[in-house]
Amino acid sequence: MDEVIDGLNLSPDSTIVDGTLGGGGHAEAILERLGENGRLIAFDRDPQPVQAARDRITDPRATFIHSNYADVPEYLQQLDVPIVDGVLLDLGLSSDQLADRDRGFSYQSDGELDLRFNPLDGEAAWRLVNRLSEKHLADIIYQFGEERLSRRIARKICLVRQDSQIKTSTALAKIVRSCVPRSKNHSIDPATRTFQALRIAVNEELKWVKVAMNRMPDILSPGGRLVVISFHSLEDRIVKQAIVADDSLKNLTKKPIQASEEELLENPRSRSAKLRIGERI
Ligand SMILES: C[S@@+](CC[C@H](N)C(=O)[O-])C[C@H]1O[C@@H](n2cnc3c(N)ncnc32)[C@H](O)[C@@H]1O
Repeated sequence: MDEVIDGLNLSPDSTIVDGTLGGGGHAEAILERLGENGRLIAFDRDPQPVQAARDRITDPRATFIHSNYADVPEYLQQLDVPIVDGVLLDLGLSSDQLADRDRGFSYQSDGELDLRFNPLDGEAAWRLVNRLSEKHLADIIYQFGEERLSRRIARKICLVRQDSQIKTSTALAKIVRSCVPRSKNHSIDPATRTFQALRIAVNEELKWVKVAMNRMPDILSPGGRLVVISFHSLEDRIVKQAIVADDSLKNLTKKPIQASEEELLENPRSRSAKLRIGERI
């Protein structure tokens, strides 16, 4: 949190875009630091956090919009806000989404394997799992999950689905675990990489990160900051390359900022978070 707030370099009159509202932790911390002329415009692709924020945060300086962050420039135009002083993207899924048993993000719950950030948009993961060819599934699991056992897992999925559709997260997790040799290191569930891969595929996450990294510099005022937190190497690579390649951005983080020991104790999920900052020249 401190690093995000420092990274945004807020002043009381700043206008800030939070592209990934989620539970609103960052949004509320930003609002606390803005003066009466400051403004926060926050987006989420998932309608639930947007509604929750509208119900909870009744602050005239805040606007909450249900949209993909890729469309932020169009919304700003509609709001008559040509440029902003900071953009925050905290990528991936929120703790609320992970905890929601009906959406399938957690492989410990028996919810339907949906995995969509926006349940109104696109195809649920269980449909993909039951529809795609073995090769296509293996490619997704390999590319987006960096899972070296991708072929074995895809083969097993295709075998199981011959008998009955794979509908729940626990069913998929069981299949993946049965393909992975038992290891002494139990810190990460063997299903993690396959779930990550399907989630990225269903939501086309890497595509939207690329689009956003390309578009956000154009809406920043000189000195404005683009602050991005990513949770796996595929995203971090896109973020890093985009900041380095963009002539209108100064790279303020040659090395990404990572969670301190203290934060890791409080919030173990921050283990894989990497924060990068670009400043609009
Ligand atoms: C890690 S959470 C954000 C947590 C938030 N910063 C907080 O303090 O609580 C990521 C959020 O981004 C949203 N999201 C993911 N991809 C998105 C996209 N392309 N456009 C808008 N929101 C997206 C997810 O629905 C999720 O709610």
